[in-house]
Amino acid sequence: MKIFLDTARLDEIQQAADWGVCDGVTTNPSLHSRAVAHEGDAAIGYRERILRIADIVDGPISAECVTRTTEELIAEARELASWHPSVVVKIPIDGPGLAAIKALSEEGIRINTTLIFSLNQALLAARAGAAYVSPFVGRLDDIGENGIQLVADTVDLLDRFNLPAQVIAASLRNTDHTAQAARVGAHIATIPFPVLEQMQLHPLTDKGIQAFLDDWHKAEAQLRAQPVS
Ligand code: E4P
Repeated sequence: MKIFLDTARLDEIQQAADWGVCDGVTTNPSLHSRAVAHEGDAAIGYRERILRIADIVDGPISAECVTRTTEELIAEARELASWHPSVVVKIPIDGPGLAAIKALSEEGIRINTTLIFSLNQALLAARAGAAYVSPFVGRLDDIGENGIQLVADTVDLLDRFNLPAQVIAASLRNTDHTAQAARVGAHIATIPFPVLEQMQLHPLTDKGIQAFLDDWHKAEAQLRAQPVS
């Protein structure tokens, strides 16, 4: 499973890239807005942000459309895709979105279909030509449904019908979500930075490191105390 960062913050993306665990990035208008608020007076616009991300990460970078009609989506997607070869255009699933996905994918523009909450939506997006489909795990869990089950069903669906789209497990909220996404075969998990940080941690790792250090110092102290022969 590839690891994408689900953030628009450059500092978080740089840290994940330094760790060698950032195969791509997904942004959306809310993430951009949060990054702008975090940056304060040094805040940058969406185009500049995507280009700065592309300087850090060698992989797909999702930039999301904010228009609603098919014609507007096509024009906006062409503009976003022109910014950088790494740009993948995010389009929400609905009728106008599907028509845009069909036209744009025929032009060779890669689409990440977002806000997927059902297997039917995933099927339509993949049939229309989307390169990626993004089932939203956490938001489904929030309303009492099983988000990971949708990821698993979508992986099976694409595999069974030989559809080339890849599944991005999105709206992941915790380390259980990331482990489960890997277990059910998601091609990609897009992960918020705090969750990525937690993925490294285990109390037995901390305990093990401390025990190794203590034993090392104990051995060194004993060796230093040996009489010189
Ligand atoms: C990624 O493509 C999605 O936009 C993102 O994972 C949504 O996550 P949220 O439900 O936490 O906003």
